[in-house]
Amino acid sequence: MSASGKSLLGLWLYRSGEQEWAVKQGSPLHGPRNKKDSIDNPVSDANKDLQPATKIQSRNGTDRSNIVVLLPPQENPGLHNNKSLMNANESAPPPPCSPGDRVSIIFTLKNQVGNLARALQVFQELGINVLHLELSPLENTTNQADVVVDVECDPKRLDQVLQMLNREVHSVNFTSVDKSALVRAPSLSACSSFDFGDMMWFPRKIADLDKAQNVLMYGSELDADHPGFKDPVYRKRREKFYSIAMNFKHGNPIPRVQYTPEEVKTWGTVFNELHRLYVKYAVPEYMENWPELVKYCGYREDNIPQLQDVSTYLKRKTGFQLRPVAGYLSPRDFLSGLAFRVFHCTQYIRHSSDPFYTPEPDCCHELLGHMPLLANPSFAQFSQEIGLASLGASDADIEKLATLYFFTVEFGLCHQADNSFKVYGAGLLSSVAELQHAITAKEKIKKFDPEVTCKEECIITSYQNAYYYTDSFEEAKEKMRAFAESIQRPFGVRYNPYTQSVEVLSNAQKITAVVSELKGDLSIVCSALRKISATDETLDVDSIAKMLQTSLNVKGDRSPQNAISPDNSDTSQHSIIMNPLEEELNEK
Ligand SMILES: [Fe+2]
Repeated sequence: MSASGKSLLGLWLYRSGEQEWAVKQGSPLHGPRNKKDSIDNPVSDANKDLQPATKIQSRNGTDRSNIVVLLPPQENPGLHNNKSLMNANESAPPPPCSPGDRVSIIFTLKNQVGNLARALQVFQELGINVLHLELSPLENTTNQADVVVDVECDPKRLDQVLQMLNREVHSVNFTSVDKSALVRAPSLSACSSFDFGDMMWFPRKIADLDKAQNVLMYGSELDADHPGFKDPVYRKRREKFYSIAMNFKHGNPIPRVQYTPEEVKTWGTVFNELHRLYVKYAVPEYMENWPELVKYCGYREDNIPQLQDVSTYLKRKTGFQLRPVAGYLSPRDFLSGLAFRVFHCTQYIRHSSDPFYTPEPDCCHELLGHMPLLANPSFAQFSQEIGLASLGASDADIEKLATLYFFTVEFGLCHQADNSFKVYGAGLLSSVAELQHAITAKEKIKKFDPEVTCKEECIITSYQNAYYYTDSFEEAKEKMRAFAESIQRPFGVRYNPYTQSVEVLSNAQKITAVVSELKGDLSIVCSALRKISATDETLDVDSIAKMLQTSLNVKGDRSPQNAISPDNSDTSQHSIIMNPLEEELNEK
């Protein structure tokens, strides 16, 4: 079965043997980008205090020269008690944890293919329950990464895992986690008063995306179960794509790639098989842009389109642009790109040994699955709104948004007027097998409800348990907007396309300025309505007026939850700019 549809950038599973390692956002261990990240990265801050240890020996004499053991300071409990250092020599006490304690093990990978797989195999072999796994590239290097693994572990097995890891990786550290402090860890959404000076970092300008490239996996290496793992030519080729992505800066043209005949053949095989299915299963909005992609971007069986050409085309159609990416991005970084109408796009292609299988997103998935719909204005806006909702959100909310993205942009269906279902999710549109399965498995098709859908499990290694549909992209947008209101973020954000920046609407002055701009746009709309309705009786002015009205209502109270669902028509609410508009429309 093709797994190409299982590839959500940033929300992924690491597979090792029969055990699957779930890697999700939400950990307080998320790696920092700068000082401002400390609000949600208490451990990362703590880690900066780690110091190298002297040469040490374990109790059984194993050389542990590269192991640092960190003990919790009794006088200064914190989230991670890691400010004391101790050598694990013969006289050292057992590791400072009790059965069932939560421990963070931190190690640096060797620059070897499959090193991560071997390191994680250690946990599986010892039967250690992994609670969380996170990768963070080392500063000033492009081929090494720190790995943080949260486990539940007794002292004996902790000792064993440290010994075994020592054979596989560079320096190994561990630190116990104070569970009570973990519960009390400050979260952005829980802050009663919000200090914007300490606000969680997120990109404000489109160029800031250069700093939001936290590649989690398949960056420069392939794992042992990757189809191209044993192919030195393929791996060498992947290094070229990795280099392009990691050296890319906003504003640069995306380097063109001379694809090899073998790569073009793989593309052609996938292209032909999927295109045959699109005619039958893809939503009309997907197909409507196909002729332009053929004409302007070279969508053909014998040609892999260049990302720069597609980016230029999308920019003119919807304002979206592409950015090459080296591998799986963190969900936060991937979603933040969408806020700027930037789509992180892989440039490499799957291994030729199995054109219908890939364990990661590749250019077949991106170009065939995503691009046609990013040229649709309504879908483009839907994608951007998910991204905007993610900026400054808590890790828990990021996980919900990533799941909603997964079941819409990657695996979404649309109900059609003839009562059939068609596909718009890129994961399905790039997977021959699952595309047909999703349409025919009627019992799995459910109405999209963000509150329910955000709890659905994202399955990477087989078909989804459920597929969610809306009647239109507009419906999906409305539901996402209502859901975004539930995200506890003490400010609003708005994308300014003129400056390509995100404005944080955190006070009355900023909101008033935006309202002033909106009034100008609404004046244009009202003027056009008057003119067109005078000659076109089919124009449903009442419907348009209602649409505007439901979008403009705000609650009259001053509760923190000052937003309402779009369909709430409570007449007690006051309108901030509705009266002039109503007057305009009533005049008609
Ligand atoms: Fe995708």
